[in-house]
Amino acid sequence: MIPGFVDSHTHLVFAGDRAEEFAARMAGAPYAAGGIRSTVAQTRSTSDDELRRLAQVRRRDAVRAGITHVEIKSGYALDVGGEERLCSLACELTNDVTFLGAHVLPSEYEHDPDDYVALVCGEMLDACAPHARWIDVFCERGAFNADQSRTVLEAGRAAGLGLRVHANQLGPGPGVRVAVEMGAASADHCTHLSRADIELLAGSDTVATLLPATDFSTRQPYIDARRLLDAGAAVAIGTNCNPGSSYTTSMSFCIALAVREMRMTAEEGLAAATLGGAKALRRSDIGWLRPGARADAVVLSAPSYLHIIYRPGMPLVAATIERGELSWAHPELGVTVG
Ligand code: NIG
Repeated sequence: MIPGFVDSHTHLVFAGDRAEEFAARMAGAPYAAGGIRSTVAQTRSTSDDELRRLAQVRRRDAVRAGITHVEIKSGYALDVGGEERLCSLACELTNDVTFLGAHVLPSEYEHDPDDYVALVCGEMLDACAPHARWIDVFCERGAFNADQSRTVLEAGRAAGLGLRVHANQLGPGPGVRVAVEMGAASADHCTHLSRADIELLAGSDTVATLLPATDFSTRQPYIDARRLLDAGAAVAIGTNCNPGSSYTTSMSFCIALAVREMRMTAEEGLAAATLGGAKALRRSDIGWLRPGARADAVVLSAPSYLHIIYRPGMPLVAATIERGELSWAHPELGVTVG
């Protein structure tokens, strides 16, 4: 038995898929932030009931994969009513909802970035903050620059939200610096880090959240996690489940990639996917098994957690326990909790 996985970075509420975009990448096309807009168009035109059903199916898939707690971001509506709708649907599945109105510029604001930032920080934040615990911004070339990101984060903080940043995903940039300077709980992706970025993270309370399935699905280089861990930075692993850059809820797959490709040890990988995720969400009630914690656990049909990495792609989760109750059990293994 191991602690339940804590997935501190997902975009579970969306419609449609982008399999063709994935196929084009596998044939050599680069990943571009602009693909997000096609999911925005599909999500905007989907009913509440259908979005709810789709998100519930993904959440059940995640439970079967041993994920006992998820963070869920908005960010696929990019208008006031739509972002509020996504935050409110996410609220039905978790108490770690993140408002991500600053995901990319919607096409109707393509030439007015300042107006869009003002909308995010004003009417959209007012509508979404009651449903959310966090605010996030995609600080990247093609999305929001450092000044715009600071403006969004400051507005979120003034509204009582904690801070998260999509940082240094597609290239070197200011994302990590902004995250650390603003005291964000987490800088997510961290695929392209300078030595200075690593020192900043190591000297801060900001968790570096690595998303190895994203680097896999976008053919990006894998960050060498040893540089972060040896410097003393706190590290988490998330699935980043979304239709564009990482369509998976398999935390075991992510751990296997982090160990094989990012040079974590098996123990570091397991810790990053449990306690690391909890730290990235600034929670002490999940991510470990100890008196007073939430009793979220995974029963493996394997003699050791090593098998998660040693037997990649195998369905080794025999049962998932949430708050001390069996929430899923493999139908053929007869697991009971007493
Ligand atoms: O975390 N980088 C920004 N957002 C998502 C990708 C979303 C998409 O491509 O639809 C991410 O990778």
